[in-house]
Amino acid sequence: MPGTFITVEGIDGCGKSTQLSILARKLREQGIDVVETVEPGGTLAGREIRAILLDPRQHALNARTELLLYFASRAQNCAEVIAPALARGATVLCDRFTDSTIVYQGAGRGVDEATIRQLHQIACGSLYPDLTLLIDIDLETSLARALARNAENATRETRLEEESHAFFERVRDGYQRLARAEPERVQVIDGRASIEVVAERIWSVVTHR
Ligand SMILES: Nc1ncnc2c1ncn2[C@@H]1O[C@H](COP(=O)(O)OP(=O)(O)O)[C@@H](O)[C@H]1O
Ligand SMILES: [Mg+2]
Repeated sequence: MPGTFITVEGIDGCGKSTQLSILARKLREQGIDVVETVEPGGTLAGREIRAILLDPRQHALNARTELLLYFASRAQNCAEVIAPALARGATVLCDRFTDSTIVYQGAGRGVDEATIRQLHQIACGSLYPDLTLLIDIDLETSLARALARNAENATRETRLEEESHAFFERVRDGYQRLARAEPERVQVIDGRASIEVVAERIWSVVTHR
């Protein structure tokens, strides 16, 4: 694929969406064709699937159902948005991707990682990020930010209130493991500074590439 596929990862409230839109603006200022998307979501079908995943009434959602819904959203996003954009040479910025499934459903909920990678192959083929920006931040700050954001926007971007502290610890550890396993692709960004400072750190990693 002639384009560049960049994903942004990290626990809820670490600043992914904030940083993704700043990065998109900076790249566009350089005249680069940028496509922004999000997982789950990113397409009409994806947004409907996202609504199911975030619906508090779905607390009984089976772990395998949840897993398949994430990949259903991703399959549509790959086919409809990501692959066509990469084929025309655009830079695609995706807020969460398969790494999120590996750490949330895998490390977090105990789904076997090989199963997740197999589903990725079915949903997305060989489409994989060229670069992943992992925004790392301590759990307390991150969850406080996410809860404040949810209260402010009167939105629920996650069902995080229902998750235990131990769950998020496993997720954070899962991310660290991914970064150690693929240090070239997964670049860890310290997310504890101001929005501007984190944006500069990300810019320096991206321009270095
Ligand atoms: N570096 C930062 N310092 C302080 N607040 C931040 C920072 N980055 C993001 N925020 C705020 O924290 C909340 C969560 O950020 P957001 O980008 O929505 O995180 P995510 O997409 O990773 O869940 C938002 O209200 C955002 O304005
Ligand atoms: Mg977000």
